[in-house]
Amino acid sequence: MTSLFGIIAHPVAHSLSPAMHNAAFKALKMDARFDAFDVLPEDLEKFMKEHRELKGMAVSIPHKETVGQYLDEIDPIAREIGAVNTVYSKGEKRCGTNTDAPGFLRAVKEAMPELKGKRAVILGAGGAARAVVWALTKEGMEVAILNRTGEKAEMLAKAFQAVKDPQIKVAKNWEEIGGKIDLIVNTTSVGLEGHEEPELVPARYFHSNQVVFDLVYQKKSITKLLVYAQSAGAKIVDGKAMLLYQGMLQFELWTGQKAPKEVMRTALK
Ligand code: ATR
Repeated sequence: MTSLFGIIAHPVAHSLSPAMHNAAFKALKMDARFDAFDVLPEDLEKFMKEHRELKGMAVSIPHKETVGQYLDEIDPIAREIGAVNTVYSKGEKRCGTNTDAPGFLRAVKEAMPELKGKRAVILGAGGAARAVVWALTKEGMEVAILNRTGEKAEMLAKAFQAVKDPQIKVAKNWEEIGGKIDLIVNTTSVGLEGHEEPELVPARYFHSNQVVFDLVYQKKSITKLLVYAQSAGAKIVDGKAMLLYQGMLQFELWTGQKAPKEVMRTALK
């Protein structure tokens, strides 16, 4: 019998997860299929009750913070981050975990292997920022959060400082951050296809011994942020790298098989 998997999100049409996972199933000659489900927030409970046939689920916006209440177990990483992006089966139980944070870290470390003691600026304070702040502070980085709405940045910093004692600051503006910035991560939706792209980082904050990571990706090009960073000599990382690594971790959890990296990477192009 065909094993069924899927992504739940709203909207879901733009998702590259079906192409990535179906390519992997095909390459490993597995009898499995990955579908996209457009699920509105008010339909999530019904969906979770009616779709027990799914052996694994990828969870995206706007369900990452709410899907946990319909699961039998949530592992510590997802609990600490406060978001589930992956549902997998353990016997009859449905469990939630988070592969965004480890997927993000793997992508960052390709560009910057040593993170400890370095300084990062995180742009944005939404769901994606949570996983990023959690991951970087765990690695011993000093993190400054800069967000359009300052109160949300304050809330995010407080949420993590209650769990452990990382070095998290909230900055009102770039001047306040000061000093050398080793890593800049954009977690805001600025740069999404079809959206306006205001200048996120003043040019003087880029330098050649720096990594600039944009979680946003465009199907055929790179965002303006990355274009500017690259022309200033910074190393850049595109959001597709994180998509790939979080997806490989999902695949391995669901199937117990090694994820075919190059097949999955090609599917994202
Ligand atoms: P996600 O779960 O993907 O992080 P989100 O929770 O909606 O999505 O968060 C979006 C982030 O992008 C927020 O930090 C938002 O800033 P606000 O908290 O001020 O709303 C940020 N954002 C969206 N549009 C922006 C823009 N034009 N300029 C700067 N920040 C923007």
